[in-house]
Amino acid sequence: MSQTAKQSGEKPVAVVTGGAGGIGAACCRALHAQGFRVGVHFRKSRQPAEALCAEFGPDGFLLQADLEEPGQIDAMVDHIKKEFRRVDVLVNNAGFSVNDAIHSMKLADFDAQRAVLRGAWYLTKRILRVFMIRLSAGRIINISSVVGHTGNAGQIPYTMEKAATDAMTKSLAKELAGRNILVNSVAPGFIETEMTGALSEDMQQQILHAVPLGRMGRPEEVAEVVAFLASGAGYIHGSVIHVNGGMYGV
Ligand SMILES: NC(=O)c1ccc[n+]([C@@H]2O[C@H](COP(=O)([O-])OP(=O)(O)OC[C@H]3O[C@@H](n4cnc5c(N)ncnc54)[C@H](OP(=O)(O)O)[C@@H]3O)[C@@H](O)[C@H]2O)c1
Repeated sequence: MSQTAKQSGEKPVAVVTGGAGGIGAACCRALHAQGFRVGVHFRKSRQPAEALCAEFGPDGFLLQADLEEPGQIDAMVDHIKKEFRRVDVLVNNAGFSVNDAIHSMKLADFDAQRAVLRGAWYLTKRILRVFMIRLSAGRIINISSVVGHTGNAGQIPYTMEKAATDAMTKSLAKELAGRNILVNSVAPGFIETEMTGALSEDMQQQILHAVPLGRMGRPEEVAEVVAFLASGAGYIHGSVIHVNGGMYGV
């Protein structure tokens, strides 16, 4: 729990984008277990977001925005300010991948992939400005991916987005020097969610061969690292923490 939250006697607030998805929901549960009020953000997945929020009773609240639309991000931040007054932790988790070979991928696919990254950047900017810089406290955790480091055939825009996410983490960590706001990335490997469930059986088998632990990760195994960065880890800043069963490390 952040020092500022302890001092004010208020429960700290964590916001998780794409909170109804596989990794996002696990992050919401892990942060709630650590004593946060949790803003479960969704775009289309209202029903699972509502069901998850209900698990948290009065400590859960729903947030809806298409992160490709800056106006919707502004409205969401205004709503948090009015109703909850603070954001202590932001987890930029929302994402998707367009999968196709470069010669057949459409320009619109590239733009859609880029728009999600722009949304994370814009939401981070607004949360910093409205809450964290004012409080001189906060944690920002960006969910990137191992493929931003290794590359992956058929996912050029996605791998570019994820590499850029880690670059944002590193640049922001420098920009926020002296402000008591820590920024890190968590880079999952292949995790059992809808996103990987959509991959062909062939592709899944190829992936498993590349993982020394011989299995996909579970969303909870990513979320426990996110929870650690959200509440402990006071000297980790500008880092990328890999959670990938040994398939890649630095
Ligand atoms: N699964 C893996 O193996 C893996 C590996 C490495 C990295 N990651 C990263 O981990 C994060 C979570 O992935 P996941 O596997 O849990 O995926 P998921 O279950 O598909 O969840 C992703 C969520 O992102 C939200 N989202 C997508 N585009 C959005 C937009 N424009 N505006 C607002 N929300 C948007 C979706 O919300 P709605 O459904 O409400 O639209 C969805 O719930 C992603 O950033 C992904 O790239 C996943």
